[in-house]
Amino acid sequence: MYGNSRGISSRQDTVHDKLERLLERHLASGFERPIPDVAREAFAKVMADHDASMPIVLDAGCGVGWSTLTLAREYPDHFVIGVDQSSDRIERGKPGEQAPNVRFVRADLVDFWRLLHLHGVRLARHYLLYPNPWPKIGHLSRRWHGHAVFPVIPLLGGELELRTNWRIYADEFALAMNRLTGHTDGVTEYQAPTPLTPFERKYRDSGQRLWRYCTDLRAHPGTGPA
Ligand SMILES: C[S@@+](CC[C@H](N)C(=O)[O-])C[C@H]1O[C@@H](n2cnc3c(N)ncnc32)[C@H](O)[C@@H]1O
Repeated sequence: MYGNSRGISSRQDTVHDKLERLLERHLASGFERPIPDVAREAFAKVMADHDASMPIVLDAGCGVGWSTLTLAREYPDHFVIGVDQSSDRIERGKPGEQAPNVRFVRADLVDFWRLLHLHGVRLARHYLLYPNPWPKIGHLSRRWHGHAVFPVIPLLGGELELRTNWRIYADEFALAMNRLTGHTDGVTEYQAPTPLTPFERKYRDSGQRLWRYCTDLRAHPGTGPA
C-alpha cells in the first residue's frame, strides 16, 4: 500500500481566485442546514462520556483512527474524539490496546462541528489531517475552507493543525483561517519522521512533500454566527 502514491495534479496552480468572495458570502449568510437527529444522538452519546475536567482533542476526519489513538496516548489527561463519516473506517480493527480516553464517532463533521459550537464546547487541540483535497477547480466549495461550515471552526478554539500533501490546499486554508482570526500564521513544510496517519505514511514514502498550517485559537472569543 505504501510508497506508490502519485502527487496531486490540478489545473489550479495557486490559491483559488474565488476563495475570498466565497468566504465573505459564508460569513454574511451563516449556515442554516438542519442538524439531523442521528448526528445529535451521536454527539450526545460521546459527550455523555466526557468528564468535564478533561480538555478535548478532536481528530476531524480521523479515517481508521491511527492518529486518534496516538493522540490519546500522547495526551492521557485529555478526552480524544475521532470523527469520521465512514463507518467502515471508524469500525476497522485498531492496532494495540484501546486507550480509555478515546472515543470514535461516525458523524458528518458539518454537523459535529456545529453541535460542538451550539453546546459551547471549546477544544484544547484540533487536528485536520489530510482532508480530501478536492483539487478540481470547480470543487472549491467542497474543500473545508470553501464550505459554509468553515466559520464555525475557529469558534471552537484550541491549537489547530492542518496537514496536507497539496500546498495550495494549505495556502488556501491558511488564508481563510487568518482572514477570520486576524492571525498571520504561515504554511510550513513538514517531514513526518513518525507518520501519524496512513495517508501521511503513504505520501511520505512516495517522496511527496507534506505541508502544515498551525494556529493557536485558544484566545479566540468563540462567539459569532454558527
Ligand atoms: C483522505 S482521508 C484522511 C484520513 C486520515 N486523517 C488519514 O490521514 O489517514 C479523509 C477522511 O475524511 C473523512 N471525511 C470526509 N468528509 C467528511 C465529513 N464531512 N465528515 C466526516 N468525515 C469526513 C473521510 O471519510 C476520510 O476518512
